[in-house]
Amino acid sequence: MSRRAMVAGNWKMNGSLAGNASLLEGLVAAMPGHDRIDVVVCPPACYLESVGALCDGGLLLGAQNLADQGKPGAFTGELFGGMLKDVGCSHVIVGHSERRALYGETDEVVAAKFRLAQDNGLIPVLCLGESLDEREGGQTETILARQLNAVIDHVGIAAFETAVIAYEPVWAIGTGKTASPEQAQSAHAFLRAQLAGRDARIAALVRILYGGSVKPDNANELFGLEDVDGGLIGGASLKAADFNAICAAA
Ligand code: G3P
Repeated sequence: MSRRAMVAGNWKMNGSLAGNASLLEGLVAAMPGHDRIDVVVCPPACYLESVGALCDGGLLLGAQNLADQGKPGAFTGELFGGMLKDVGCSHVIVGHSERRALYGETDEVVAAKFRLAQDNGLIPVLCLGESLDEREGGQTETILARQLNAVIDHVGIAAFETAVIAYEPVWAIGTGKTASPEQAQSAHAFLRAQLAGRDARIAALVRILYGGSVKPDNANELFGLEDVDGGLIGGASLKAADFNAICAAA
């Protein structure tokens, strides 16, 4: 892996003021050992500011979602990208499969959010991945190409110079099933080749994270793959010891 590695924790809808403080204490204490990688935590939106205040030692703050609106206004329950930047976020997850599947986010909405993230000074972490049916139907590359190209066509390839991609096979999320090293490398190489078809220089520098049941005991093997530049971690990001061990493997 020649690119600077990144490990991001997607806490999803988990946490509490007291629990977050204790988790952060464990993460910040380990940060001196992670100076060669980017470490990002993505708590629920209501905790962004309190978690941000506890981020130290280079630990970065990310949001899990942003509104598909270009300016603040009458959008009850939504969060404008500029507000996320205002409370200290550097990154925002865009197009997570749970947003696509449970909240109806289409490729078009995801592309719009990617653009709005960058318009507001945030680095989008664009999630892509196939379902089990799609994999078993031999559709993995078709799905990945569709999801990626929908964004490239909307924002242009140059926008990927300041973006991160996360390959998250839906069947591996929260299931304890991890993509095999062959499956992960093949998907990551395919995504990089898609980028290279537009711009080889940008393809070489974009970080592509793997997500889907990454644990301390499989992180080493996954992060050692040529086109895997770190991970987007769900369940294991909620325990300091596990997340720190995953960071140490990157
Ligand atoms: O965004 C992270 C993710 O969906 C993976 O979750 O719990 O399988 O690590 P998990």
